[in-house]
Amino acid sequence: MNKTQVVIIGAGPSGLLLARLLERADVSTIVLELHTRAHVEARIRAGVLEQGTVDLLHEAGVDTRLLRDGLRQEGFGLAFDGRMHRIDVEALTGKSVTVYGQTEVQKDLADAHLASGGVVHYSVEQVEFADLEGAKARVTFLQNGSRHEITCDFVAGCDGFHGVSRQAIPIDKCLYHERVYPFGWLGILVDRPPVADELVYANHARGFALCSMRSRTRSRYYIQCTPEDKVEQWSDDRFWGELRARIPQELAERLITGASVEKSIAPLRSFVCEPMRFGRLFLVGDAAHIVPPTGAKGLNLAASDVGILQRALIRYYKTNDADSLGAYSDAALSRVWKATRFSWWLTSLMHKFSDDSFAHRLQLAELDYISRSPAASKVVAENYVGLDLA
Ligand code: APR
Ligand code: PHB
Repeated sequence: MNKTQVVIIGAGPSGLLLARLLERADVSTIVLELHTRAHVEARIRAGVLEQGTVDLLHEAGVDTRLLRDGLRQEGFGLAFDGRMHRIDVEALTGKSVTVYGQTEVQKDLADAHLASGGVVHYSVEQVEFADLEGAKARVTFLQNGSRHEITCDFVAGCDGFHGVSRQAIPIDKCLYHERVYPFGWLGILVDRPPVADELVYANHARGFALCSMRSRTRSRYYIQCTPEDKVEQWSDDRFWGELRARIPQELAERLITGASVEKSIAPLRSFVCEPMRFGRLFLVGDAAHIVPPTGAKGLNLAASDVGILQRALIRYYKTNDADSLGAYSDAALSRVWKATRFSWWLTSLMHKFSDDSFAHRLQLAELDYISRSPAASKVVAENYVGLDLA
């Protein structure tokens, strides 16, 4: 039988960031991951980091490549009604965000954790929990056909939306809140320079579009699609044609297209489970909440959960004070709900929900208002860079 202080379920960004931060404070961890390392690192996800996330990656000692390759973004564009308005995030808030792909964050975390001797068991199956409300928790799992057991003080459920940790909370001990949106995002990655230096979010009568990037030579573009759409129905040519139709003409003329290196469809959903704790189990990141990608809050929320939990755990181990652990769920949810609201709002503002011309005119009126009112622009910018007020 094995022992550790904290068992972490999932080696995604939440799990590995937590493991790094705890290890630096001499709190022992074992990470259990369902998939192989290669599989985890092949996933293409969003790529915009708030300053708070960058700070935490610095604290974890994994910001060398991020500082070298990350692209500082001082603003972003809102395109609508055939024109563009720039939200000057830096001028409005004094802060900026950084473009650096989650795929790279994931690699940096795994490299650092494994190099420092951190324990990660990949390809484990059937993770199960016992005694979550007891004096010690037990976690069992299957690896290479044999069953293993770990005794621990705490379990961090960092296993994403489809993981097992959330399911371990009895259904009468938690509440689920959910919105499923009637569309998805079709995204493509292409080794061509981005169409603009900053991200552009476009509202169009044909549906939403987003021009994003991973580096100065690699771009990421998205268009709103139906939930029934299949990647095979979207040749690169069809994608580029539709993207051009949805962005302002001056951008469409500058767009440099090429063969996609990845193409995928993601559904859009908002989801929050509360509380984010049951006994010795703490939910972190996508295991507890999902936001639609509009606004790029998913990874940043996961990082802020990790920040709150690691501080509480370290305090517990250093001073035997469990108050911060008791406050974890409320503290995390305060931020989660504000980002959930912002992601829902930006999704509602930018997407086509129906053929209803009234709804579209209201969106255009609100976008025009944002473009003319410094107060309204500031609300958008403040939420975009990440709220300190949560
Ligand atoms: N047992 C062990 N590991 C599991 C299990 C399980 N039963 N189920 C899932 N996992 C693993 C997944 O394979 C994945 O590697 O847990 C990890 C969860 O990682 P993510 O889904 O990336 O979630 P998280 O680490 O919280 O990352 C934050 O916010 O919006 C998103 O794109 C953003 O993925 C990012 C996330
Ligand atoms: C991305 O680059 O993948 C991205 C950027 C901004 C978003 C969502 C996704 O709001």
